[in-house]
Amino acid sequence: MLDSSRSRAQWGSRIGFILAAAGSAVGLGNIWKFPYITGNNGGGAFVLVYLVCIALVGLPIMIAELMIGRHTRRDAVGAFISLEGRRSPWQIAGWVSILAAFVILSYYSVVAGWTLDFILRALQGAFTTPLGTNTSQAADHVSTLFQGLIDSGPRQLMWHFIFISLCLGIVIGGVQKGIERWSKILMPILLGLLVLLFVNGMLSDGARQALNFMFRPDFQKLNPGAVLEALGHAFFTLSLGMAAMITYGSYLSRQDSLFGSGLRIALLDTGIALMAGLAIFPIVFSAGMQPGAGPGLVFQTIPVVFSNLPGGNILALLFFLLLAFAALTSAISLLESQVAYLIDERGWGRKQATAFLAILAFVVGIPSALSSNLLGHLTPIADLGVFDSIDLIASNYLLPVSGLLTALYVGWFWSGQEEKEELLAGGSGWIYPTWHFLIRFVAPVAVGVILYSKIEETGL
Ligand code: PHE
Ligand code: NA
Repeated sequence: MLDSSRSRAQWGSRIGFILAAAGSAVGLGNIWKFPYITGNNGGGAFVLVYLVCIALVGLPIMIAELMIGRHTRRDAVGAFISLEGRRSPWQIAGWVSILAAFVILSYYSVVAGWTLDFILRALQGAFTTPLGTNTSQAADHVSTLFQGLIDSGPRQLMWHFIFISLCLGIVIGGVQKGIERWSKILMPILLGLLVLLFVNGMLSDGARQALNFMFRPDFQKLNPGAVLEALGHAFFTLSLGMAAMITYGSYLSRQDSLFGSGLRIALLDTGIALMAGLAIFPIVFSAGMQPGAGPGLVFQTIPVVFSNLPGGNILALLFFLLLAFAALTSAISLLESQVAYLIDERGWGRKQATAFLAILAFVVGIPSALSSNLLGHLTPIADLGVFDSIDLIASNYLLPVSGLLTALYVGWFWSGQEEKEELLAGGSGWIYPTWHFLIRFVAPVAVGVILYSKIEETGL
């Protein structure tokens, strides 16, 4: 198992790696969550804070994770073992991140399943408004569709099953022939779809209002909670703390500059989130609706808006395809991170590892799919349902804990020389000191504050 001469999977090209890693980063977080939290937090000032968080905290931690992966060429747990030995407590960081990937995949797949349901609806023409229907009728119609889905356990289970099967089908093909190949197909289509929807948004009546909303900061609207939310989201959106970047970094060849790769991934992720906002808000404003609709923005507000537009059903179809592709390339990174563990540390074959973990993810996701119906009466944590409780544990605790440990380890405990060599392959003079400062001081403090505030807030 620990035989270092055994040949290990590797990306076929740099662009393949960047697309795969950007595929992991670009997900529901960009297209579903970023627009609605921006809406809830009043727009411009929040966007600005978010960009600062990406640059000062997100990017440095992403580089740290890629670095650990590339240096050790092992899965997230094995990486810490290979750096610090079998008995080192640092491997807890790896365990927490793989556990996070495991938990998150189980319910991410359920939400991803909703996007598949809406694709089918769009194919059936559900977002074509019959002449004379007005906005409130359209809103009723869409919320009936969404509610019908949420109320149906079997329907959600079916989509959850289909989505996990898609992930399985890709990951089982391996790093180059599965993940890289599909990322190279799905990511350009995703970008193309987004550009279409973005242009559509910019040509609509609400374009000016949307640009003002997103880029004219009004600091009155900013409170400490919004800053924490921006920071937490910077983390989630870049796929940090879930073993994904360590694992993808472990398939990198030695030549590439980590700084250049990390920067490209972060820029793609951020650019796509901003474009998603600029695709969505103009049509929301054109229809005279509110930007602060919350989590329902994408599944409820947007379809209503579409169904009032000429050609809206096609736009809805494109939009939900975009969402599904984004979710798929993210979910495969969560599955791959766990598969890599079984392959590297337990000596499993890829096929068995992938099949086993996909089945497990399906089973563990069942309660999330039933959370809003059969299990609707259960509230494991405070007054939260099953789905929200699981999300709370993963996003509020597992991710920041693993991120904090990673930043502390790389910043303070990993001997400086090696990491320097890794990073500076291709980097210029100011990059290392700046990164080192951020990873030692800024990132741990920022992540520590998020963690502390979550603990305060929920009393857990
Ligand atoms: N980064 C993804 C998003 O923005 C979420 C994710 C995190 C996906 C970790 C995979 C791994 O939606
Ligand atoms: Na993202």
